[in-house]
Amino acid sequence: MKKIYIGMSADLLHPGHLNIIEEARKLGGEVIIGLLTDKAIASYKRLPYMSFEQRKIVIENVKGVSKVIAQETLDYVPNLRKIKPDYVLHGDDWKEGVQAKTRQRVIDVMSEWGGKVVDIPYTQGISSTQLNNVLREIGTTPQIRCERLRRLLSSKDIVRICEAHNGLSGLIVENTSVMQNNKKYEFDGIWISSLTQSAAKAKPDTGYLDTTSRLEMINDILDVTTKSIIYDGDNGGPEEHFIFTIKSLERLGVSAIIIEDKTGLKRNSLFGTEVSQTQEDKDIFAKKIKAGKQAQVSKHFMIIARIESLILKKGMDDALLRAKTYLEAGADGIMIHSCSDSFNEIQEFALHYNKFENKKPLIVVPSSYSQVSEEELIKNGISMVIYANHLLRAAYPAMVKTAQSILKNHRCKEASDEYCMKIKDIITLIPGAK
Ligand code: SPV
Ligand code: MG
Repeated sequence: MKKIYIGMSADLLHPGHLNIIEEARKLGGEVIIGLLTDKAIASYKRLPYMSFEQRKIVIENVKGVSKVIAQETLDYVPNLRKIKPDYVLHGDDWKEGVQAKTRQRVIDVMSEWGGKVVDIPYTQGISSTQLNNVLREIGTTPQIRCERLRRLLSSKDIVRICEAHNGLSGLIVENTSVMQNNKKYEFDGIWISSLTQSAAKAKPDTGYLDTTSRLEMINDILDVTTKSIIYDGDNGGPEEHFIFTIKSLERLGVSAIIIEDKTGLKRNSLFGTEVSQTQEDKDIFAKKIKAGKQAQVSKHFMIIARIESLILKKGMDDALLRAKTYLEAGADGIMIHSCSDSFNEIQEFALHYNKFENKKPLIVVPSSYSQVSEEELIKNGISMVIYANHLLRAAYPAMVKTAQSILKNHRCKEASDEYCMKIKDIITLIPGAK
């Protein structure tokens, strides 16, 4: 019996996919779907809406499909060598653009056993990209948004999070992407930073903003985004308040809260030992984590413990002991913070941490050691990177330059021409503006 292989994501199944399966069926033989895993898809674009298991159930029940197997990589070759199909079918859109190389590689490998590639004419009028855009406009639900972070952590080499401090910066994190080496790079989620949220309101990062006003701002971000949200919870407040905060965040669809093991008046960690900051007793902090885990409603919400030992110069052993204690208390991840300008101490922490049997995702915030690359973080077993303050830091100097230009020139022409986006662009920037 002939074997016909089709690689697909099968997330937003549409008549284009069904047409390819129908053409495969006409060739007469076993139609095998190589269903891309979440990991394979996340290696070059956004996570699919449905999990692998959900997509598998759908595609298995499509007429003409004989068998569904996992395609673990974007590259077809490992599966093709295993199966040695007589035909590979694909929409003819892969003849051009970024997919052309993949196609050529498939043709070359298939020729080893005389297999053929059949390009099926593209079904006009419908595409996954179109459906994706429509879905993005519709938005998401709190549950889907909340669950997304755990899915990202299990399917990506590193989860990339960027700070936003209002709806507009949220829109930037949601929509900005670049293409590099045939891969689409974009942020996976949004960091609700206490520092930038306070700074945007011209307030110090001392815990002055209350939870209610911080959640109000999250609402603006929720309105225009679909990505995961991680909330900077400072030290979580008293246990009794912490429990309320968790429930409020869950209702909004926030994926995680990160709380730091400090007590007393909140001071930003990047001051290091320049200001007086007190670390919380590790067992009291562990008790807070435990109480939070018991209070959360859904199993997907994550409570991440942030360790300040390196910031406060308490040493590596203290940091590692705290990591152990917090994991035992039920923390879903560890954020290790540092205000050193070198990556060394984080690297050393990671080296020991990665040997823990019960380890959970390790998260870092490279604000002071900004030279470290994501590739290096991945090599050191770090699962998530948070770019914690960059959009706000970029916006401020741009505004100062503009203000200075108007004052210097006694008019706004120079500022408009040099530093500002076009009026037409600003009035149409926000979806639904016209
Ligand atoms: C924040 O972004 O508010 C943080 C990270 O907590 S840091 O400013 O480095 O403490
Ligand atoms: Mg903070």
